[in-house]
Amino acid sequence: MKLLLRNAKQLVTCSSAGQPFKRGKEMSEVGELHGADVSIEDGIIKEVGRNLSLANCDVVDVSDKIVIPGFVDPHTHVIFDGSREKEFAMRAGSKSYSEIAANGGGILDTVRATRVAQKSTLRHLAATRIEKMLRWGTTAIEIKSGYGLDFKNEVKLLEAAIELKDEVIPDVAVTFLGAHTVPPEYMDNRAEYLKIVTDELIPYIVEREIANFCDVFCDNGFFSLEETKYILTSAASYGLRLKLHADELTSSGAVMLATELNAVSVDHLENISPDETEALSASNTIGVVLPAVAAYLRSKPAPARELIDKGCAIAIGSDFNPGTSMVDNMQTVMWLAISMNGMTVEEALNSATINAAAAIAMSDRIGSIEVGKRADMLIIDAPDYSYLPYHFTENRITNVVKNGTILEFH
Ligand code: NIG
Ligand code: FE
Repeated sequence: MKLLLRNAKQLVTCSSAGQPFKRGKEMSEVGELHGADVSIEDGIIKEVGRNLSLANCDVVDVSDKIVIPGFVDPHTHVIFDGSREKEFAMRAGSKSYSEIAANGGGILDTVRATRVAQKSTLRHLAATRIEKMLRWGTTAIEIKSGYGLDFKNEVKLLEAAIELKDEVIPDVAVTFLGAHTVPPEYMDNRAEYLKIVTDELIPYIVEREIANFCDVFCDNGFFSLEETKYILTSAASYGLRLKLHADELTSSGAVMLATELNAVSVDHLENISPDETEALSASNTIGVVLPAVAAYLRSKPAPARELIDKGCAIAIGSDFNPGTSMVDNMQTVMWLAISMNGMTVEEALNSATINAAAAIAMSDRIGSIEVGKRADMLIIDAPDYSYLPYHFTENRITNVVKNGTILEFH
C-alpha cells in the first residue's frame, strides 16, 4: 500500500529533531512547511519534501488542506460502564469531588457498574467511544484499568483494552491502575488490598503481558505517598513502566516520587509545588496536563505556562472518564490548554502530538511527521493549524490517515 499526499498548503511536522520529546522553549516550534509532499509505503513515512515521486501509489491532492500529525491521547479511562451526571450536578451545587468520593460515590460508583458488566459489553462501549475519538483526530491512546479493583475485574478491564488494540485502534498503551481507590471490601484493611495489587495482580499482568504501565492515584483520600511508593517500586521491579496521578486535589509530593522513580509521566499537576516544579524540569519525566478536569471540577488549572517556562516537557490529554472529564476530543483539550492553562497554540499542538507520544513511550514510532515514523496524519480543511483550537466545536478534519491508510467512517 503506497500513498502520496501532494502539495500541502501547510504541513506541520512537530518534529523533535531526533529527541524523544520537546521541553521548555523547544515546544514553541512546530516545524511548518508549505507546498510539501509526504510519501508513504507500508504505513511508514518514506519522504517529506517537494515534488516527490512514488511509483504505483494513490495520490491525494492536499493543496487546499493542512496536514498535521494524528493526536495522541496519553491519559484516558475509556473502559467503564455507567455514567455520573448526577455527581456533575451535585458538584455544580455545593458538593466537592472528595466529599462525594468519601460517601461511596465517585470512582466507586463506576466500579459498581463496571464489575457487573461483561467484558464484551465494556469492549463495545469503549470501542464506540474510541471511534468518536478517531473522528476527532486521535490516532493513538493510553487506556487505564481502575474500575475493577479486584483480581477478576482488573484483569477483565486489561484484557478488554488489549482486545481494543488492533481491532479498533492499533496503538494502545495499557496502564494498570489497580490503585485507583481502595475497594469497599478492603476499606478497613488497606494493607491486604495493597498485597493483592503487588503480590497477585502485578506478577500476573506482567506474565500475561496485558499492561505496559502501572499508575497510582496518589492523593488525599486515595493512596498515600508511602503506599504509592510501595506499589510503584514493586511494579518497576517486574519491569512495568511508571505513571502517576499527582497533585490533582492536594499537593502530595508525588511529583518528587515520580522523578525519583524515573516515571515516564506524572499526570494532573493542578497543585504542584515550587520544589516539585524544579524537580520536574530537571527530569526526563513528562508532565501531563489534563485541562478538562479543572473545568469539570471547577478547580485551579495546572500551571502549564509556568512549567514550560521552567523548562519542563509537557503533554496534554483528555483524561476521558465518567467523573471528571467526558471530553473525548483533543481539539477541545487544546482549546482548554490555551484558554485555561496559558499555553500557546504551538505548545498545545506539540503537547498533543510528539510529547503525548513520549508520555506513553511511543515517540520513536508516532507523534510527528518524520521519515521512518508511522504515517498517522490528519488532513484538515482549515486556513491554518490555529483554526483547530479556535473553532474546536466543528470538526474540520476531512481525512484521518492511520498507518498509511485513509480511514473510512460510516
Ligand atoms: O483522572 N483522579 C483519578 N482518576 C480520574 C477520575 C476518575 C473518576 O472520578 O472516575 C481522574 O480525574
Ligand atoms: Fe485520570
